[in-house]
Amino acid sequence: MPVNRKILAALGSAVLALSMAACSGEGAGSGGNDGDKPADLTIGVSMPTQTSERWIADGNSVKEKLEAKGYKVDLQYAGDDIPTQSQQVDQMITRGADVLIIAAIDGTALSGQLQAAADAKIPVIAYDRLIRDSPNVDFYVSFDNFKVGVAQATALLVGLGVQTKDGAKGEAKGPFNVELFAGSLDDNNAHFFFNGAMETLKPFIDDGTLKVKSGQTAIDKVAILRWQQEGAQKRMEDLLTSSYNDGTKVDGVLSPYDGLSRGIITALQNAGYRGAEFPVVTGQDAEIASVKLIDDGVQSSTIFKDTRLLAEQAVIAGEAFLTDKTPQANDTETYNNGVKVVPSYLLPVQTVYKDDIKPVLIDSGYFTAEEVAAGQAG
Ligand code: BGC
Repeated sequence: MPVNRKILAALGSAVLALSMAACSGEGAGSGGNDGDKPADLTIGVSMPTQTSERWIADGNSVKEKLEAKGYKVDLQYAGDDIPTQSQQVDQMITRGADVLIIAAIDGTALSGQLQAAADAKIPVIAYDRLIRDSPNVDFYVSFDNFKVGVAQATALLVGLGVQTKDGAKGEAKGPFNVELFAGSLDDNNAHFFFNGAMETLKPFIDDGTLKVKSGQTAIDKVAILRWQQEGAQKRMEDLLTSSYNDGTKVDGVLSPYDGLSRGIITALQNAGYRGAEFPVVTGQDAEIASVKLIDDGVQSSTIFKDTRLLAEQAVIAGEAFLTDKTPQANDTETYNNGVKVVPSYLLPVQTVYKDDIKPVLIDSGYFTAEEVAAGQAG
């Protein structure tokens, strides 16, 4: 454990010090070695789920980059189950983690664990999803999540022809029938994505260019719990039955995540949508199955967030804490977690349409051309 935290830890309650010592093992978070060599330090990495490939890529990238620097890594996936994640983080603390990197399932559910981490002087980095309602979040690495929403809504407008890619007014006038989807309400990002999207779409809804035929425009009406593909498919099926059974067609769907987009696309295909009349469907994460759908002209766009760069920032921040430095933030205003503004490092995002697959995803080595053609990575 680095010196400052050691001193602070020594000043902590005797009971805590004893209990930490009792469960110390070799873990440096327990009061560890004086040498502070990377091999003496462990970073706990808590990821939400393996059902979405982005989190697997995130977990692997963080682990590889930390191990390459000689640190020990305790990487756990929580299967999208909140109690499992709480338990895994508890275990990381008792096993003596020196830093925690956490992508929360429910941004408000880890207060107890974070308090235990703070008591043990373990810095906490929120990874991509802000942990809310706790003072014990030391740093946040993510993308500009409001801009993700703006980019998704813009991609919907571009897909419909209402706007051009360079932001000019497009030829198409509408009116277009669109439906809106949001992510899981317990994920802070879902709100940023939706707010960014709605700010962009509102003028077009207000002037009648876009019509949300279902009337469902509030986030709590359009959110999909745990970002589940099946949930999105079911809601799209319900919308088709309830609002489009009079022969009118859906022209576009705002979807905040590729997994949801695939559920929405399945519902639309099952309802007979094909070819030129297929609605414009947006996405996020550049998941390989969706990149193939974009290449095939089925899905219209996705938002690429380079998880390699995010992992790198998490590692830089983690290493700063391990060497008793303060990680460098590039945003100290946007992310108030309900208790404090968490210093953040935010990365830019990129919209990917069919034409961008090669320059953005293949040429950067994110996927190979073969993987895109197969719709499968690895
Ligand atoms: C992430 C998105 C992802 C979503 C579902 C969000 O917190 O920022 O990239 O699509 O979770 O996994």
